[in-house]
Amino acid sequence: MKSRQGSKTLVHDVTFSIKAGESLGLVGESGSGKSLTARAIMGLHPASAQLTGICQFRNKDISSMSSRELREYRTRGVAMIFQDPHAHINPVRKIGDFLTEALVSNLKMPKAEAVSRVSRTLEEVGLSDPHRRLNQYPHELSGGMLQRVMIAAALAADPAVLVADEPTTALDVTTQAEVMALLDKLRRERNMAMLFITHDLDLAAAVCDRTAVMYAGKIVEMQASDMLHWHPHHPYTAALAKSRPAIDARLARLLVIPGSPPSGGAATGGCPFAPRCAYATTLCQEQEPALRHLGGGLGACHHSERIESQLRVEGEGSVRV
Ligand SMILES: Nc1ncnc2c1ncn2[C@@H]1O[C@H](COP(=O)(O)OP(=O)(O)O)[C@@H](O)[C@H]1O
Ligand SMILES: [Mg+2]
Repeated sequence: MKSRQGSKTLVHDVTFSIKAGESLGLVGESGSGKSLTARAIMGLHPASAQLTGICQFRNKDISSMSSRELREYRTRGVAMIFQDPHAHINPVRKIGDFLTEALVSNLKMPKAEAVSRVSRTLEEVGLSDPHRRLNQYPHELSGGMLQRVMIAAALAADPAVLVADEPTTALDVTTQAEVMALLDKLRRERNMAMLFITHDLDLAAAVCDRTAVMYAGKIVEMQASDMLHWHPHHPYTAALAKSRPAIDARLARLLVIPGSPPSGGAATGGCPFAPRCAYATTLCQEQEPALRHLGGGLGACHHSERIESQLRVEGEGSVRV
């Protein structure tokens, strides 16, 4: 993806597919391109962005969809939950209007039917007294309740795929765990596919079948989640897996990955992680490694085979959720 101001490549070579009922985690530091990828899937990327490549839903390219098909796709096909519910729920409109809007305008559902459907969904996401909720304004609800409202809005039309972009980052730790457990339960009950976006590798591993790791606008590794956590192919994934506080509080110390990612996406020439990588060689400075098949997954590192044993994450240093 390019932004016209300066035409920088922000996200590139991102390829993945999600099967019905499958959950895929998309993990990376802030600025690595996760949200732009999610917005491109929804066809909601910034107007200034140039997009190349294709996004298919049930074998249909979304760029060839009519506006009616696109409205249906964004409601029953792929629904999205955003990071910060306050930023996406209009503060001066009642919860009920927010919840029924997509059903009424995108799916042409009669208002009464939409109200009864969203009431059921509110109960499903754990909000009691749905009729009272529908008449409340966003400021009357806590952050956790509002995120449940957002989940209900996404699920009301029974979508095939849920894109959840850091759905718990704006919440306190206890509420995070509750909302995560709820999302996982609803996904399984509905056999929904999910793209779960987070900066937390362990959280992705706990709720996703497969996990993809993004760095500087590129997928650098993709594997089954349990394999990815313990046997990473890429030094960046290994650093993410190891940069967790130790279980023992006395030893708890957050290991940070030295350095910072290149700004604005792609680096020029070599491996974008090379400046921060303990294993980097001249080859890494000069040539960008392609994503390739490695032991049942994909990885983009020149030296995966050579450093495999050093990347392995041992039990004591990390926390499983
Ligand atoms: N509308 C935009 N215009 C220009 N650059 C953008 C825009 N949105 C995001 N970016 C840039 O694209 C990169 C990826 O952003 P984003 O996908 O939001 O990252 P993440 O969600 O992983 O934190 C960042 O460098 C960010 O500054
Ligand atoms: Mg983001």
